[in-house]
Amino acid sequence: MSFQPPKGTDDVLAPESQAWRETLRLWDVWSERYGYPLVSLPIFEATELFERGVGDTSEVVTKQMYTFMDQGERSVTLRPEGTAGVVRAYLNSGHQGTWKGAYSGPFFRYERPQAGRRRQFWQVGVEYLDTPSPVADVEVIELGYRFVSATGLSEVDLLLNSIGDAVCRPAYVDALRDYLRKRKGELSADSVALIDRNPLRVLDSKADSAKLSDAPRSIDHLCDECAEHFTAVRSGLDALGITYTVDPSLVRGLDYYTRTAFEYVATGLDTAQNAVGGGGRYDGLAEAIGGRATPGVGFALGIDRIILALGVPKETHLDAYVVSESGPMDALWVASKLRGEGLRVDFDTDGRSVKAQFRAARRLEAPAILVLRGGDGMVDVQTEDERVELALEEVAGWLINR
Ligand code: HAM
Repeated sequence: MSFQPPKGTDDVLAPESQAWRETLRLWDVWSERYGYPLVSLPIFEATELFERGVGDTSEVVTKQMYTFMDQGERSVTLRPEGTAGVVRAYLNSGHQGTWKGAYSGPFFRYERPQAGRRRQFWQVGVEYLDTPSPVADVEVIELGYRFVSATGLSEVDLLLNSIGDAVCRPAYVDALRDYLRKRKGELSADSVALIDRNPLRVLDSKADSAKLSDAPRSIDHLCDECAEHFTAVRSGLDALGITYTVDPSLVRGLDYYTRTAFEYVATGLDTAQNAVGGGGRYDGLAEAIGGRATPGVGFALGIDRIILALGVPKETHLDAYVVSESGPMDALWVASKLRGEGLRVDFDTDGRSVKAQFRAARRLEAPAILVLRGGDGMVDVQTEDERVELALEEVAGWLINR
């Protein structure tokens, strides 16, 4: 067959898909624990939503969007990120007051593919809207941190910064621009092109950031309100025992951020693509897309990258495989009983030989094989280190307590 998946996209099949399932299940558990109900939104939106929401100086909007005209002559874009859509949905819902939502799904960016950088990738994330409180920032940061730890990723650094707001940022951007203009000769062409348009982005340029260690820092230019907010976020994280590093060069790639910006970095991953997630506060986003002022904070995590960083294949998707000497109907009946008791069970429907059934069980790495011999109601249970003969009614209990 000559069809391949499109460049930068992946087919995720077992056994790798089991790590995905477990990670996404964990996401449901953790996001619910922090009080975030599911929000499920369109995968495409009006192009203008991203142009105005994410910002037309961001690389995501200028270079990476999958945009096309639909048959009704509307310009639509496959969502490159989730925050603008969530804020749109909140404003459309007519809801007043604080609101929380958690999402999980595919996103699309036209990027040069490499390990951990895909054109279709999976994000999970939350948005906490209509709250200016630094305590909301702390809650959001904590959720991301605890979830990433729960996936089994141990080497994760939390980077934190404040990039100010509409009051204090303009003066900071001016100071930074002056500094960069003086250093123009040392910078890459890409960075020089950004000095006028978006000088903050020069700070996280891969080519130049190391040369800019004495650049003006946003945290030294915060207005009183922003400084107070940042102190409160820091002391909240301290109180929860969450360690972080203040990184003055962390500016994030999307234009909507104000005040808090943060990233979770998997130190074990190749440095080019080691940000497993990031987020921050975006107090001006709702107004940028034509809504009423609605401060908010959130994050998104890249599941492709988390799975990549985890590295180890997780467990099989089965608890047991039924092997029948008396045909597939008997196996179906036993599987049905055990599935009813909550076990994950599979068997061969095609009446293949006992040998072939054993081969299938091993290929699927079933931790237990249940052999049915004749109609006496007894099951020969075989695991790696044990073999017992049990009555069918005892099997589920035995497997669960093992
Ligand atoms: P972002 O930093 O653009 O933020 O993306 C968040 C995470 O998605 C990244 O840290 C990375 O793990 C993953 N990611 C992004 N692009 C790709 C890609 N091409 N391939 C694989 N993984 C990728 C946002 O999207 C914001 N909406 C986060 C946010 C929510 N801020 C506030 N609320």
